Amino acid sequence: MADHVCPVWVGYLLASPLRKLFDNPVKRLSPYISKGMTVIDVGCAMGFFSLPLAEMVGPDGKVICIDLQEKMLQRLCRNAKKKNLLSRIEARVCRRDNLNTADLGNTADFVLAAAVVHEVPDAASFLTELYGVVKDGGKLLVVEPGGHVSEQDFSATVDAAVKCGFTILENSGTRRRRQALFQKISEK
Ligand SMILES: C[S@@+](CC[C@H](N)C(=O)[O-])C[C@H]1O[C@@H](n2cnc3c(N)ncnc32)[C@H](O)[C@@H]1O
Repeated sequence: MADHVCPVWVGYLLASPLRKLFDNPVKRLSPYISKGMTVIDVGCAMGFFSLPLAEMVGPDGKVICIDLQEKMLQRLCRNAKKKNLLSRIEARVCRRDNLNTADLGNTADFVLAAAVVHEVPDAASFLTELYGVVKDGGKLLVVEPGGHVSEQDFSATVDAAVKCGFTILENSGTRRRRQALFQKISEK
């Protein structure tokens, strides 16, 4: 069980515009996003990915930003307001063991879980909850930092996602960044 949670001061570093120089959110996420989509950014922190996602989904789309720490979400909303994106953002505080998604069943076209699975207490229940919110045909992208998450631990996360019902579309990480793309394909 993970006992480390990213502190708020690191949230400021993660949201730094300098990060875009080596980790471009538009380049990374645009293959998965279309206008009008409902997207969930879970473990969003201060919105390094959420704000570009809000640009990408356009005025008819929505980005639901879920995080454990209210301070992260407050800063995210402040940044969204400055960029005139607040109307596309819904910020939700969750608990460590519950993502507060009971009303979101089968609604998300795309879920991003970036650098968060290694912080959750129970990856299987976290992924099960995400399976419930993804629409049939919708996708989940799990990204983990190679420095914190071994290849073996990432494989265990991939296996847990498959056990929840997700189908693997890509498992394409590098040593620095471990990444897997899943789809929810319900049996008819
Ligand atoms: C390392 S940061 C990653 C932030 C962002 N996704 C990024 O890649 O820049 C991890 C974030 O996940 C949040 N977090 C940790 N445990 C969580 C949980 N059980 N449920 C939801 N969010 C959680 C932390 O509060 C923190 O903001």
